[in-house]
Amino acid sequence: MYDAKLEVSKLLSKYAEGLNEQQLYDMLEVPPSPEMGDLALPCFKLSKHLRKPPVQIAESLAASMPKVDFIDKVEAVSGYVNIFLNRTIFVDKLLAEVLDTGKVFGSSDEGRGKNIVIDFSSPNIAKPFHIGHLRSTVIGNALYRMFKFMGYNCIGINYLGDWGTQFGKLIVAYKKWGDEDKVRKDLVKELVSLYVRFHEEAESDPSLEDEARYWFAQLEKGNEEALALWRWFVDISLEEYAKIYDVLGVKFDLFQGEAFFNDKMEPVVNELKAKGLLVESEGAMIVDLEDEDMPPCLILKSDGSTLYATRDITAAIYRKNTFDFYKCIYVTGVSQSLHFKQVFKVIEKMGYDWHKDLHHVPFGTVSIGGEKLATRTGKVILLEDLLTQAISKTAAIIEEKNADLPNKEEVACQMGVGAVIFSDLFSNRIKDVSFSWDEILNFDGETGPYVQYTHARACSVLRKAGGVELKAFDASLLKSDEEYSLAKTLADFPSKVKQALDELEPSIITRYLVDVAHDFNRFYHVHSILVEDEALRTSRLALTQAAKTVLKSGLELIGLSAPERV
Ligand code: ARG
Repeated sequence: MYDAKLEVSKLLSKYAEGLNEQQLYDMLEVPPSPEMGDLALPCFKLSKHLRKPPVQIAESLAASMPKVDFIDKVEAVSGYVNIFLNRTIFVDKLLAEVLDTGKVFGSSDEGRGKNIVIDFSSPNIAKPFHIGHLRSTVIGNALYRMFKFMGYNCIGINYLGDWGTQFGKLIVAYKKWGDEDKVRKDLVKELVSLYVRFHEEAESDPSLEDEARYWFAQLEKGNEEALALWRWFVDISLEEYAKIYDVLGVKFDLFQGEAFFNDKMEPVVNELKAKGLLVESEGAMIVDLEDEDMPPCLILKSDGSTLYATRDITAAIYRKNTFDFYKCIYVTGVSQSLHFKQVFKVIEKMGYDWHKDLHHVPFGTVSIGGEKLATRTGKVILLEDLLTQAISKTAAIIEEKNADLPNKEEVACQMGVGAVIFSDLFSNRIKDVSFSWDEILNFDGETGPYVQYTHARACSVLRKAGGVELKAFDASLLKSDEEYSLAKTLADFPSKVKQALDELEPSIITRYLVDVAHDFNRFYHVHSILVEDEALRTSRLALTQAAKTVLKSGLELIGLSAPERV
């Protein structure tokens, strides 16, 4: 891959006293505006070491640089060495590479032979699949695709919340107020209303909580009736989730929930005991983490029952033994940060050096119209409703803009769902998201539909052009600011993917796509692409093709479709 920054640092290293190529590479910046060049070396960082004022260092460096073909101009301005690249060489190398590599442009094989476990989505059975789980689903899915693009072998695990006291509550609620036909008809919705009703009634009748505890204990003991109901609730929920994952285009390699670990915890508890980590506290068994400035990690309740952490410790060990992962990544809300810190610490204390390969990827909360979402009160927007609305709103927009589109329904689905995913992945994941229909569906805003629309626009130009041998482009014809700036943005794709993975932050790709779309649209509006002059037309088409390639790869990396006509 052509890396202009690397070429520049190689050259500079011959003239910048005491600095090697790598240091220079790390120091080179992209100036805030194009008038300051394509790359700039800030010399104040060298000033202390060279004992000279930065202005003087910049001037002597600029003066000593020889003329080379890939650099047009070098200027010293207020302590910076500003470097202007030769546009033709840059654009030539970039286009040749993108046309040559196509959809693998930006990918790599750095992950070959390495397994990445990604634990994501993981909704709680019989509780609603709400917009918070949507975040985990789309962030996890984007990470999955990004790791795959870099050659890793990914194992996507849906760690369903399919065990826990909520089943005691649900069994009680179902036995008291449930109706089989209604459950069969309304599925998770009905389970959720039973769950909500339980909490409402339990407020005035606390004995219900005792009954729920009784039934959960029955379940843990393997009582037939309890188990049958549990299995039924799980099956109903899975059936419904499958529809949602299908709409979202998300797949898992494994559905392996909490219940799977029920019979695997005992040896782990024994191991904790044998390693002297388990201590008694008020009847419960804990791992003390006071020396780590953390509250203790609860392993067994006083009645001997296990907890969320007990299962997660067991699951991590199981996954290490099964997949020998290079990294194991957990995507959940930020409210679980302490939980994962404790779990990772306990694993470290058990003497497993792979504790350092466990990563929690937290994200902020979602509100709709300023309201937080809570399960117990039933104040939830179910994901299914949200997606259905997104699709029908998009269908209405398409009807208005392009009523003759052949496969309208399919595109409405791709764009409506795309709008939701894109908005979810737009901000740094740790930020709280506030959701607004007007914002996410705006075809001219920083949205999924805007990027998809731009991609389709590039496709349409290429379609109109018919078959053209794009490799015959002439980069010297693409020297305008708009063409050059688009080419520079496209050239950033590989490093953006890398950065997004290093930071486990899909928003880097999402925002980058908006930049590509902006640059492409500026190019498209200022220059005619399908001009008479054949050489010029071919060259602009080659640039269009490169933009299309990057837009498509980028959209797919974050889990969106890239329809060719919208
Ligand atoms: N079911 C949990 C929830 O909805 C998320 C599980 C995350 N994964 C894990 N290994 N703890 O909050």
